[in-house]
Amino acid sequence: MKDNTPVLPRRTAVAGTVAVCGLASACARYGGPAGPAEADTGEPVKAPPTGEVLGLAKDVPVGGGTILKDRKLVLTQPTEGEFRAFSAVCTHQGCLVNEVADGTINCDCHGSKFAVADGAVTAGPAPSPLESQQVTVTADGEIVTGDAPADTTTPDTTQPAPPETTEEVPAGLASTADIPVGGGTVFADQEVVITQPTEGEFRAFSAVCTHQGCLVGNVQAGTINCDCHGSKFAVADGSVTAGPASSPLPERAVRVTGDQISLTG
Ligand code: FES
Ligand code: FES
Repeated sequence: MKDNTPVLPRRTAVAGTVAVCGLASACARYGGPAGPAEADTGEPVKAPPTGEVLGLAKDVPVGGGTILKDRKLVLTQPTEGEFRAFSAVCTHQGCLVNEVADGTINCDCHGSKFAVADGAVTAGPAPSPLESQQVTVTADGEIVTGDAPADTTTPDTTQPAPPETTEEVPAGLASTADIPVGGGTVFADQEVVITQPTEGEFRAFSAVCTHQGCLVGNVQAGTINCDCHGSKFAVADGSVTAGPASSPLPERAVRVTGDQISLTG
């Protein structure tokens, strides 16, 4: 299927404020009256949002959407001025959705479709909606990540302070005993596969297939295998041993401490 969905560039900048639809709905509105609306209505003055810019509201078609492949996100505008964001990872077998057309977000791996309004499944085999993500639209028409701007006049003392950043060693992802020699184990939640090509040698690779983004399904007979279309990758170096994938699985850095394997990059 031809992918004719526009792809937005990544940029980083922030400015201004706009009203949002509410935190639970993970949507944002744009295009309200210009000027300091909060001050006019007696609401506390808001600080600018600090999220990363995903794109421009004007670039998201009304009734449609835009896929940000590098972020694995879909931005939609179900009705004019209403913006939503969803994970672009299909809830069936993890392909990235490939187009937004006729009011649905479509995955051509097996034909699932999701509504641009709320990510709900409109056609299977996907079993569940696309995960909703919080975005905010600035007064400059930029769609940024995260919640609505913080209230600077009434600090929320009910929220715990964010944890301090430390240099902690990452918690072990797996025990060396969990990884068969000559094979490997897929950790779907972390989207990583850890292999042990030869005894005592541990390697890690992205578990996202380089063909169309499914998560690889298993490691058998010396290869990491993707069930979506049959691609296979070598446990030793992630290289392609069978297509249609044409590029290797990206390698991840691992550390082995005692019998614990941790990701370090
Ligand atoms: S329909 Fe999306 S992965 Fe199967
Ligand atoms: S997504 Fe097609 S073979 Fe993996």
